[in-house]
Amino acid sequence: MHKPIYVTQPYLPPLSEFIPYLEQIWDSKIVTNGGPFHQQLEQALCEYLGVKHIALFSNGTLALITALQALRVTGEVITTPYSFVATAHSLLWHGNKPVFVDVETDTLNLDPDKIESAITPQTTAIMPVHCYGNPCNVEAIQKIADNYNLRVIYDACHAFGVQDQGGTLLRHGDLSCISFHATKVFNTFEGGAIICPDSKTKQRIDHLKNFGFVDEITVVAPGINGKMSEFNAAIGMLQLQHMDTVMQRRANVDAIYRERLKNIPGIRCLPQTASRTRNYSYFPILVEAEYPLTRDELYKKLRENGINGRRYFFPLISEFSMYRGLPSSAPSNLPNAIEASQKILCLPIYPTLNIEDQSRVINIISEVFL
Ligand SMILES: Cc1ncc(COP(=O)(O)O)c(C=O)c1O
Repeated sequence: MHKPIYVTQPYLPPLSEFIPYLEQIWDSKIVTNGGPFHQQLEQALCEYLGVKHIALFSNGTLALITALQALRVTGEVITTPYSFVATAHSLLWHGNKPVFVDVETDTLNLDPDKIESAITPQTTAIMPVHCYGNPCNVEAIQKIADNYNLRVIYDACHAFGVQDQGGTLLRHGDLSCISFHATKVFNTFEGGAIICPDSKTKQRIDHLKNFGFVDEITVVAPGINGKMSEFNAAIGMLQLQHMDTVMQRRANVDAIYRERLKNIPGIRCLPQTASRTRNYSYFPILVEAEYPLTRDELYKKLRENGINGRRYFFPLISEFSMYRGLPSSAPSNLPNAIEASQKILCLPIYPTLNIEDQSRVINIISEVFL
């Protein structure tokens, strides 16, 4: 019997390399509240990502909620139904009304051509997602935001390390939020961050993530506890040293899938995007009508063989009970997202996926034609 294969596996550097970091934490007894590793990781990530200001968080969801709070977003926010549920949940937690707009068929990102007709006098912001790390049409989105005076907060939780022609993808919009969850390309077990355009905004966000404290006796806002601990920051410092290996191995897995799946009728890999760099964070395929099995039959067949793909993103966010009553959740409003959610299957991809295991995945997909 083979060991189960999951859609992802967190990258863990050798434990021996982490011990010296733990010893430093034990020596200093500083375990949180912007300690030395927290400061080092902010600096190191600014350099690695090519951004000027970053505020670390305990996870991506709190980063999203705090970004909404920092920009005082009110009323309606236009967003995509084709994402992890935390995108829309952050809006509900902040008291905003999500307004779902359909996605493009090639990138599965928010379709800028459909945004304008969803804007009402209550709309104050757009929250697009760079789904699977594929860049949104950032220029078109910004143009609409400028014309209607809307804020743009990117849910960039999938977009670590992705660059477009002008630099990091994370520089777009008013703020970008990222996740360092265990399933992500760069992981601190749990973690996240907001990329800020200037030091003033970062300072405000740093206050908000620490209950609103400015100093020992002054609280300026109903802030939250979103701080990243020293433990998570330390593992982040170590992970950064391994990022070249991580990206290279992911790229290899991606290339093998593309090569070996390209001639299988009815299996369509999502097109590679025009971004300058990719992060190979997911490997989504679309199971089309020409394939002998439905998406769910293939998903089950893989599972029966110990291979746990994931139907990211199915169901759509708009189909969950807390969203489905919204007018924008009507299926007629979201045909592309619905079609994608019925065809999508994310295959296992992670740095330590070996060629034997990857071949098992590919063989199970191709053997239906034997
Ligand atoms: C698109 C998207 N948004 C938000 C989140 C939430 O991030 P976190 O799990 O770090 O809270 C995730 C991932 O978990 C995600 O994939």
